[in-house]
Amino acid sequence: MDDRLPSPDAMQSFWMPFTPNRAFKSGRHKLLVEADGMFYKSHDGREILDATSGLWCSNAGHNRPKITAAIQKQAATMDFAPTFNIAHPLAFEFTHKLSGILPYDLKKIFLTNSGSEAADTALKIALAYHRMRGQGAKTRLIGRERAYHGTGFGGISVGGLVKNRMSFGTLLTGVDHLPHTHLPENVFTKGEPEHGADLADALERIVALHDASTIAAVIVEPVAGSTGVLIPPKGYLKRLRELCDKHDILLIFDEVITGFGRLGAAFGADYFGVRPDLLCMAKGITNATVPMGAVAVSNRIYDTFMQASDTPIELFHGYTYSGHPLACAAGIATLETYEDEGLFARAADMAPYWQDAVHSLRDARHVIDIRNLGLVAGIELQPREGAATARALEVFDRCFDDGLLIRVTGDIIAMSPPLIVEKPQIDRMIETIRYALAVTE
Ligand SMILES: Cc1ncc(COP(=O)(O)O)c(C=O)c1O
Repeated sequence: MDDRLPSPDAMQSFWMPFTPNRAFKSGRHKLLVEADGMFYKSHDGREILDATSGLWCSNAGHNRPKITAAIQKQAATMDFAPTFNIAHPLAFEFTHKLSGILPYDLKKIFLTNSGSEAADTALKIALAYHRMRGQGAKTRLIGRERAYHGTGFGGISVGGLVKNRMSFGTLLTGVDHLPHTHLPENVFTKGEPEHGADLADALERIVALHDASTIAAVIVEPVAGSTGVLIPPKGYLKRLRELCDKHDILLIFDEVITGFGRLGAAFGADYFGVRPDLLCMAKGITNATVPMGAVAVSNRIYDTFMQASDTPIELFHGYTYSGHPLACAAGIATLETYEDEGLFARAADMAPYWQDAVHSLRDARHVIDIRNLGLVAGIELQPREGAATARALEVFDRCFDDGLLIRVTGDIIAMSPPLIVEKPQIDRMIETIRYALAVTE
C-alpha cells in the first residue's frame, strides 16, 4: 500500500517545519492521507487514533460534514474577495457570530491567517492603542519564559523557548519576561496547582525596573501548551489581571490552544473567570480546515481607535487573506457544529474521566510528572542521560506504529484529543502509551 508515497525526489522538496528533515526523509515514512472523526489513515492504510486534534486544532474531529459542505459551497460561489476598502457579507456574519461566544466585552475582531499573525497583531494593536490615547511611551512588551506565541518576530520576542529565539538575531527591543509557572512542588497535580500564584508578582519587579509608564502589555497563554502543558497555579491569572489594572497595562491572552472548548468552556478567559483586554485565536476557529486566526479586542480599545484616529484608516495593518471567504464559511459552520453538538460542555463532562485516565500513568516507566486540565494533558518523561528528547521521540514512533498519534515536545508527551473523544478511545490512548513507555529504554 506504499503507492500513496511521494516519489523520493518529491520528498526532498518540502522543507518541513519544526521537523528533523534529514531524519524524517531518510527514515521510516510517517504520512497521513485521510481523516474522519477521531481517526487518521496512514499512507500504508492503517487507522491512527488522533490524541492531538491534529496539532491542537481539529477540536470537533475530522471531516465534519457541515464544515466540509460549507467550504465546498463557498469555493464554488466566490473563491476570494478582498477586505481592504471593500468586503463580503461572510466576514461580518462570521465575526458577529464569533463575538456571540466571546466573553466580557471582547466584541471587536481583527482577522488573520494563523496564530502567529494573531499574536503579532495583538502586540501591534496594544502598541498603537497606547499611542492613540496619548501614551506613546508605553512600548515595552512583557512575555513569559517557556511561552509559545508562534514564529513571527513579535511572537518569538515575547516567547520563551530558547531554540525558537536564539538563531534569529536581536528580536524586538524593549521586551521582558515573567518567570514560567512550572514548580517542582506541583508535580502530579490534578488540574490547577496550589502553589505559585505569587509568581505573577514578578510583574511588580518588572514595573519597578522599567516603570509602568513604559509598559504596553503582558501576553500569556492561559495554559502554556507548546512548551509541554503548564497549568497556571490557582489565582495566578487573577493576580496578573489585578497588577495589569493597577499599572494601566493591557493583558493579552493567547488562546490559540485554549480557545474553542479545549478547557471545557468556550475560552480560557471563561474557564478562569479572568478578563483579558485582547484575546488571540486560531486553530479551532475553523476546526483547522482553512487557515485562520483572529484577535478579539475590548470595545474600549476599538472605540479608542474609532474616536481618536486622525487618519481615515485607523489601523495600518492587515493581510490579503484577512477574512478569506473560505475561512469565514468554514468558521461559521465550525461554530454551528460546536453549538449543535454541545462540544464545549461535552469536553467539560469528559474532563474528570480524562484526568483519571492520564493520571493512571503515574506509575508508568520514565514518567516524572503529569499535568492536565479540560481535555489537555502533559506527561513528562525523565530525559535519557546525554540524549534529551530521544526517549520521547521513540515513544512517539512506537505509538504511531501502534495506531496512535500523540505529540511530543522536548521530553513531554502532550495530548489534546478532539472534543468528540469517547471513553474507550481514551482508554486505548492510555494503554498504547503505557506499552510504548514500557518497551522504550
Ligand atoms: C499559544 C499559541 N500561539 C500561537 C501559535 C502559533 O499558531 P500558528 O502555528 O497558527 O501560527 C500557537 C501554535 O501552536 C500557539 O500554541
